[in-house]
Amino acid sequence: MTKKKTDDYHRPVLVAEVAKYLISDPNGAYLDLTVGGGGHLRALSLRVEPGARLYGIDRDAEAIAAAQRALRKRPEVHALEKGTFAEVGTIIQTWPDRLFHGILLDLGVSSHQINEASRGFSFQSDGPLDMRMDRSSGESAATLLERLETRELAELIRKYGEERMAKRIAQAIVRERQTAPIRTTGHLARIIRSVVPSAHVVKTLARVFQALRIAVNDELGQLKRVLPAAFDLLLPGGRLAVISYHSLEDRTVKQYFRSLAAPP
Ligand SMILES: C[S@@+](CC[C@H](N)C(=O)[O-])C[C@H]1O[C@@H](n2cnc3c(N)ncnc32)[C@H](O)[C@@H]1O
Repeated sequence: MTKKKTDDYHRPVLVAEVAKYLISDPNGAYLDLTVGGGGHLRALSLRVEPGARLYGIDRDAEAIAAAQRALRKRPEVHALEKGTFAEVGTIIQTWPDRLFHGILLDLGVSSHQINEASRGFSFQSDGPLDMRMDRSSGESAATLLERLETRELAELIRKYGEERMAKRIAQAIVRERQTAPIRTTGHLARIIRSVVPSAHVVKTLARVFQALRIAVNDELGQLKRVLPAAFDLLLPGGRLAVISYHSLEDRTVKQYFRSLAAPP
């Protein structure tokens, strides 16, 4: 067995673009609200001057540990802290910088979270049906599937997965849990496969897993709270960069940016 390199944690996207648009002052203060394995923050650290101050937050303890490893030789990095980005206003209170030249949000999950079967995010490997980014708090996907009624489950799958076969899938889940609790990703995937035509099954699996992940982590609630909070932490001329991966995130971000641009 070969030990994973820190670089394998997550390969960041749009690195050149993030650095180009975020850095307005090479001696400024920059905050990565989704630090993950520290890839973006490391790229920023290589492009700023020694006077710059960099900070990172992530709700996943494994991400903070990976970022600490990746950034241990970067003196510009002043703090890496575990917490949700919606709480950013509280987290930064003890930091030397409380206003920033640039703030980054790279939404969603990291490759590490997806690829690690024990985290329960992926239908491609069997593991406990967890899906919590912060494993120390909140309700797992398995508990959510035990608790919700058919109607609520169908609504969740339709709303967060934009899945047309939501009702059929919700009914199958509720039927199955009367016989056996659904505690693994493999079990959930088998239930979905049993009621969805094989031509659609991979996309449907992806949509249902996405829906559960969004619900378990209250991802859209977190996003709605962080956008105004982050905007308030920008210095005049500061920049907020958001990388989104699906239409629900994208819509939320665009609506917020449009509301800022609208005349009062
Ligand atoms: C796409 S990854 C970011 C990867 C990172 N840019 C890098 O270079 O490695 C998204 C990260 O955001 C974190 N995250 C998602 N929602 C969060 C929230 N509400 N608060 C804090 N961190 C969050 C996840 O735990 C994950 O590590």
